[in-house]
Amino acid sequence: MVPEEQLIIAVDGPAGAGKSTIARLVAKKLNILYLDTGAMYRAVGLKALREGISTSHEAQIGDMLKKTDLDIRFIDQEQRIFIDGQDVTNDIRTPDVSMAASDVSALPVVRKALVKIQREIAARQPLILDGRDIGTYVLPDAPFKFFLTASASERAKRRLADLRGRGDQASSLEAVRMDMERRDRQDSERAFAPLRQAEDAMLVDTTQLTIDEVVDVLISKILDRQVS
Ligand code: DC
Repeated sequence: MVPEEQLIIAVDGPAGAGKSTIARLVAKKLNILYLDTGAMYRAVGLKALREGISTSHEAQIGDMLKKTDLDIRFIDQEQRIFIDGQDVTNDIRTPDVSMAASDVSALPVVRKALVKIQREIAARQPLILDGRDIGTYVLPDAPFKFFLTASASERAKRRLADLRGRGDQASSLEAVRMDMERRDRQDSERAFAPLRQAEDAMLVDTTQLTIDEVVDVLISKILDRQVS
């Protein structure tokens, strides 16, 4: 039995596997907070783009970070992310920012700073969090770990639908798929805390599953251990 105060759920996987949709719904069902760690890398990537700093230049990005006030707030249980006092939650979902986030996430100076914040948030309350390295590096002792995947074409379709929903009519399915595959390669091949399934994570292939079915898989696994 896992006590309530240790209810930490790690969800990892490649882009477009459904992590954030699923994590948000599981959080609602369990009445706990959901931390989207990708948003943190995106916010750093966005600031670098805005300042014209190379997203792979570790020293310059490190300097920029020192002068950056990155703030995560939960308003009505929903995460908002602020950079230097400005709410950038809606500005970080573009294809350019996705790539910039992947670039800066390969830099140890960025990962160390953001992982520290993620661990602090997880130490304060029950939490579900999604990312690439939650089960392997951020919280290796998390009692619940899931690794979500789906076929590349299904993931590209979902990403495109997401972008269309945000008003992006320009991106094509092919461009989205190529961007996504490049990003997954970069996220999997980086030296420091790469995208990888933790040995003790449950693998869930969501290609043929509905959102509700995936949520049910996670919830039953969690409740199983909560009550037994
Ligand atoms: O989940 P996302 O697409 O919003 O993440 C954007 C990028 O941030 C992703 O390409 C890799 C990086 N990332 C990471 O390295 N580690 C995390 N825990 C979350 C995201």
